Amino acid sequence: MFYTRGHPPFLMAAFRRIFLLVAGAVRRAGEATRTREKPRPKFAMSVSKWILRAVLLLLVIQIVPYGRDHPNPPVTGQPPWDSNATRETFASVCGDCHSNETDWPWYSNVAPVSWLVTHDVLDGRKHFNVSEWGRPRQDADEAVEVVRTEEMPLWFYLPLHPEARLSPTQRARFLEGLSKTFPEGES
Ligand code: HEC
Repeated sequence: MFYTRGHPPFLMAAFRRIFLLVAGAVRRAGEATRTREKPRPKFAMSVSKWILRAVLLLLVIQIVPYGRDHPNPPVTGQPPWDSNATRETFASVCGDCHSNETDWPWYSNVAPVSWLVTHDVLDGRKHFNVSEWGRPRQDADEAVEVVRTEEMPLWFYLPLHPEARLSPTQRARFLEGLSKTFPEGES
């Protein structure tokens, strides 16, 4: 399985490359209009050809239907939260991937990021969904463990959602609430 936890570094590297290519294309387009009279060197020609291809590829992949609809199915059950504080912290740190009340960000509309976001939300909900409490086969009993070991939230989530960062005190309180709501070793 090439997909385990989070996204493999080569995917992130690929995104970075696409981003740099697009940024380069924009800059070069500006330069090209400014220096139209001068003959362009061959190297610049081939670079701009590749940039054009990358931009076209980025446009073409927007046609792929996967990742376009952002389903938030109805809430059919709620866990027995030990407190409102735990429920609220969960909603802001974990809720985007483990509830049906996902706040889909704008970039979840742009392929290929939309594919990754959709995949993570659907996969996260499949493992553990507080909006479908009572549904069998949930990994809720691992909630405390994955927060303690900092496996969750997935590593790329925090830089994109600084509001989900917890202070040591908030974290300790959250862990306590989680362990009361989702006792370890039961499901
Ligand atoms: C960016 C989306 C995302 C966020 C945010 C997130 N998770 Fe997950 N979570 C996933 C995905 C995807 C899986 C399933 C695949 C895996 O295990 O990596 C998962 C799996 C789990 C599991 C099942 C056990 C396991 O390791 O497979 C638990 C329990 C869990 N998450 C708890 C949490 C808790 C608690 C938070 C908040 C502190 C959280 N997650 C935040 C995406 C997320």
